[in-house]
Amino acid sequence: MTTQFHHVPVLLEKSMKYLSLAPGAVVLDGTVGGGGHAESILERTAPNGILIGLDVDQDALNASRRRLKVHGDRVHLIQTSFRKLDRALDEVGIHRLDAVLLDLGVSSHQLDSGQRGFRFSESESEATPLDMRMNPEQGQTAADLLNRASATELQGWFQNYGELPGSRRLAKAITESRESSPLKTNADLLRLIREAGIGRGRHHHPATLVFQALRIAVNDELGALEEGLEAARTRLKPGGRLVVLSYHSLEDRIVKHTFRRAAKGCVCPPKQPICTCGKMPSLRVLTRRPETPDALEIESNPRARSVRLRVAESIEEVRPS
Ligand SMILES: C[S@@+](CC[C@H](N)C(=O)[O-])C[C@H]1O[C@@H](n2cnc3c(N)ncnc32)[C@H](O)[C@@H]1O
Repeated sequence: MTTQFHHVPVLLEKSMKYLSLAPGAVVLDGTVGGGGHAESILERTAPNGILIGLDVDQDALNASRRRLKVHGDRVHLIQTSFRKLDRALDEVGIHRLDAVLLDLGVSSHQLDSGQRGFRFSESESEATPLDMRMNPEQGQTAADLLNRASATELQGWFQNYGELPGSRRLAKAITESRESSPLKTNADLLRLIREAGIGRGRHHHPATLVFQALRIAVNDELGALEEGLEAARTRLKPGGRLVVLSYHSLEDRIVKHTFRRAAKGCVCPPKQPICTCGKMPSLRVLTRRPETPDALEIESNPRARSVRLRVAESIEEVRPS
C-alpha cells in the first residue's frame, strides 16, 4: 500500500552546510526516514556520490525508496539500526565515509500513524495499542514492558527518561493494576496516570513525559546512540563530518560528551602526571554550542522546536612516536 509520508526535514540548510559535501562524496544517513535530508545529500554529491540510508522502519524505507528512485544505483537502503552501521557498510563494500548524518527520534509520519502507538489520545474511544516500536517486527512492545518490568525498572525509566514527578507512584499503580488486568491500550495507561494523580495542576500533559520515557526504553534509543556514534567516528575519513540532530536533552548530552571525549583523546585520571593510555584526539568539535532553528522554522514546523544540532570533524589520529 502506498501511503503519503509526511515529514518536513529539520534544519535542512544548516545540516547540509555542516556536512560540507562535494560531488562524489560517500555519505551515510543513519536515519533516512522519508528521505528529506537524503534527497538534498544526493543533489549535492551528484553525479557520482553514494548514499547509504539506514532505518529500522520498513515504512520509512519504502517511502525513501520511492522518493530517491531517480538517483538509481547511487542509493543503498538497508533496514537496520545505525548501531549496526559497521555491518551495513560491510554489506555494501564501503569502508570509509565522507560524512554521517543522524537525525534522531521519530518521524512525523510515525507519530501520526495511530496504530503505532507513539501518540496518546485524550479520548478513550480512540484507544490505540501500546506498541511504540520503531521496527514493528522486532523487540518488545510498550505493553510488554509495562506488563513485565519490575516496579523499580518502570520507575527508573519514568524518572531518567521522562523526569516525571511521581514516577514511583505511577510504577506502583501499574504493577498493582496489571495483576487483575494487563495493560493493552494507551487508554489503559492514561487512566492509570490520571488515577495516580500524576502531574496534577501542571502545564504539560503528564502523559507526554510518560510516553516519551516508554518510547526511549522500548527502542533502547540511548544505547543505540552511544554505539552508533562510536561506530560512525571510526568510519569517517580524516576531515569527514559527523552531524547529529537530537530532540531530547539526554540524547544531546550523549552527543556532547562523546564528541568532547573524542576531541580530548587521553582518558588517564586528571591527577596522573604522564599519559599512559596513549589515546589521541580523533574528532574536532565544530559547534561549541548546539545550533538551533530560527523562529520562522519553528513556526512552520513545530517539531523543530526542541532540536539541537552538533557537529564534529574527524582528524587523523596521530600516534605518539
Ligand atoms: C526524524 S526521522 C528522520 C527523518 C529524515 N531525516 C527525513 O528527512 O525524512 C528519524 C528516523 O530514524 C529512524 N530511527 C530511529 N532510531 C533509529 C536507529 N537506531 N537506527 C536506524 N533508524 C532509526 C526512525 O525510524 C525514523 O524514521
